[in-house]
Amino acid sequence: MVVLVLCSAHGAPGVTTTALALVRAWAAARAGRRVLLVDADPAGSDLTAGPLLATPVEDLGLLSLVMGRGQITAEAVVHASVALDEDAARMVLPGASDTRQSRSLSEMWPGLGAALQDLSDRGVDVVVDAGRLGHRHEPTALLSAADVVAVVFTPDVPAQLHATAAARALIGLRPGRAAPVGVLVGTTGTGADTIAAAMGLTAVVPIAHDARTARDLATGTVHGRWADRSALLRSATALARRIEVWAPTPAGARS
Ligand SMILES: Nc1ncnc2c1ncn2[C@@H]1O[C@H](COP(=O)(O)OP(=O)(O)OP(=O)(O)O)[C@@H](O)[C@H]1O
Ligand SMILES: [Mg+2]
Repeated sequence: MVVLVLCSAHGAPGVTTTALALVRAWAAARAGRRVLLVDADPAGSDLTAGPLLATPVEDLGLLSLVMGRGQITAEAVVHASVALDEDAARMVLPGASDTRQSRSLSEMWPGLGAALQDLSDRGVDVVVDAGRLGHRHEPTALLSAADVVAVVFTPDVPAQLHATAAARALIGLRPGRAAPVGVLVGTTGTGADTIAAAMGLTAVVPIAHDARTARDLATGTVHGRWADRSALLRSATALARRIEVWAPTPAGARS
């Protein structure tokens, strides 16, 4: 089982879109495994205004875990999450609705990191949207505890320079762990190995540029089989299938 944390280093390359596409593709790509999307972007959630717009989340989410003041357990995390389908195969743990709320979340990141590892050991994979690195209330503890960290970036030179610096910082944060994976939005993957080697990444995986599906994911209006055959969801499926290769075995790097 795996805890995957997605982050960015510069601009808005598509962290949330990639996370939403992964969660949509997860069960088909990973033999029916359940998945929880954690909205841990301290700059504020894009989900409560989009895919979760029709769902009342006042008593749910990260803030409810903080307000509960108890220990953050795997059960509490599931209890605070929204099920996206009847059998709760896909769940979302809503985040802060604005950056001011993030201050109260800062202290919970270490406890949440441990609870998410526990949840993944019990059969629920976890995808975390950690937003852009360097935020005052960055969920550093989640980045440290993750099985796999992925830096999302676009193919332009400034984005690659920022992502390279982020990769170095993440390697420093995670001694003894593999370097981050790169998620390159808007390419087909040509030259991915060369880019990975140049940037010090474990691998670079392409996510297709697909404005229509990106928009539908953001508004929670992805429906039907055509969507699953879209370029974005096909590339997300390929990424989800490769996660296992980079995740340590349970008896391995987790400490
Ligand atoms: N694969 C994609 N194809 C086409 N457009 C995309 C793709 N991914 C993201 N976008 C578009 O780019 C914009 C930013 O995407 P998104 O909100 O996912 O970025 P982000 O990295 O999460 O940004 P932020 O740091 O502001 O949360 C949105 O308009 C989104 O529709
Ligand atoms: Mg985002």
